[in-house]
Amino acid sequence: MNFWEEKYQQAQTGWERGQINPAFDLWQGFNDLTPGTVLIPGCGRSPEVRAFAARGWQVIAVDMAPSAVEFQRHDNQLYGDSVIVVEADLLAWQPEQIFDLVYEQTCLCALNPEQWQQYEQRLASWVTPGGQLAALFMQTYKDGGPPFHCEWGDMRELFTTTRWQWPEQEPLQSEHPTGIHELGIRLTRLGAV
Ligand SMILES: C[S@@+](CC[C@H](N)C(=O)[O-])C[C@H]1O[C@@H](n2cnc3c(N)ncnc32)[C@H](O)[C@@H]1O
Repeated sequence: MNFWEEKYQQAQTGWERGQINPAFDLWQGFNDLTPGTVLIPGCGRSPEVRAFAARGWQVIAVDMAPSAVEFQRHDNQLYGDSVIVVEADLLAWQPEQIFDLVYEQTCLCALNPEQWQQYEQRLASWVTPGGQLAALFMQTYKDGGPPFHCEWGDMRELFTTTRWQWPEQEPLQSEHPTGIHELGIRLTRLGAV
């Protein structure tokens, strides 16, 4: 059984809020964008999958933990083919399409920092030029993980300006009941580099 599946089975899912991430609301449910295709990597049991579907997006949600996949398939039955839930390892999976939006809610922090560059390249390959990556970077201020602390300076370096356009605004701070928080930012995918 993989690490994450064990967490779900043992109910050790301290990262879950049981409600929509405040950043999703602060970004006004992405109503500045025309609903298109959205990829949610490492979707877990997060309610944002349903929230995107309810707003008319075509959702592909991916997770390697069977419990999370089963949860999302059940939770989104109402949306039929508008929500496709894939059980896969994101470091190996290749979609047949690219996406208008990728909603990266604390999946990066679940990966070993040695895998971050590989994952960033994958994220870049999944977003259509001109499309967006909405990322929520976990801030634990602790050594080790998962979840691994996503230091802001490291994120700025990882999501290089040759591939991503950074907005001028400061990141959003998304508080979590456990006292940790995430920093939220929406990056635009530049060209095909
Ligand atoms: C910290 S949790 C966040 C879950 C969800 N995004 C949320 O906000 O509740 C990380 C999730 O990423 C998934 N995950 C970790 N590594 C993965 C990988 N290599 N491929 C696919 N999913 C992965 C885990 O199973 C887990 O559901």
